[in-house]
Amino acid sequence: MTIIETIYARRSIRKYEDKPVEREKLETLLKAAMAAPSAMNIKPWEFVVITETEMMDAIRSTLMFGKFNAPAAIAVCGNTSFFKHPMAGKFWVQDCCAATENILLAAVGLGLGTVWLGVHPVHIFTKRITKLLKLPDHVKPLNIIYVGYPAQEKPARTQYDPERVHWETYE
Ligand SMILES: Cc1cc2nc3c(=O)[nH]c(=O)nc-3n(C[C@H](O)[C@H](O)[C@H](O)COP(=O)(O)O)c2cc1C
Repeated sequence: MTIIETIYARRSIRKYEDKPVEREKLETLLKAAMAAPSAMNIKPWEFVVITETEMMDAIRSTLMFGKFNAPAAIAVCGNTSFFKHPMAGKFWVQDCCAATENILLAAVGLGLGTVWLGVHPVHIFTKRITKLLKLPDHVKPLNIIYVGYPAQEKPARTQYDPERVHWETYE
C-alpha cells in the first residue's frame, strides 16, 4: 500500500474482533506516534496504553461516544511540565494530534482498526479520564484511541472538496 492509499484506507472502526492486539504491534504504534513533528521538538506527549478488559469497560462507561468493543486503547496526553519555553504550552494540542494521526495511519499498515475519541476540551470527559487513568494534574488527556482488529469494512476514500480549497488568497 502506498502512503496515499494508507491515508485513504484509514477509517473510524467501531466494531472489533474479539482478539487482543499483540504488545509488539502496540509498541510499533507508539514508535510511529513518537516520530511525529512537534513545536520546537518539545515532544510534550505521553501515552497510557490500556489492554485490561476491566479498564476498557470503565472507559466505555465513561465516554458517551465511545461504547465500542475494542480490546485496547491508547490515551494520548500532553505533559505540561515539558513546557519550559513560554510558547511551548500553546502547541501541545497540535503536537499530540500529530502523534495521534501517526498512530491511526500506522495501525492501517499493521492491519488494525482505530477510532479517535475526543476528550479535551470537554471538561467532564477530561475530569473522568484523569481520575480513571490516575493522571497527575500536569498530564492532560487529549483523546483516547481505540485499537483492535476490525470486524467491519469501510471503503477507502478521500472527502476531497475543491470548494474548501483557496489558491494563493481566499477571495
Ligand atoms: C477530535 C475528534 C474527536 C472524535 N471523537 C469521536 C468520538 O467521540 N466517537 C466516535 O465514534 N468518533 C469520534 N471521532 C471520529 C469521527 O467521527 C470520524 O473521524 C469522522 O466521522 C470521519 O470518519 P472516518 O474517520 O471514517 O474518516 C472523532 C474524530 C476526531 C478528529
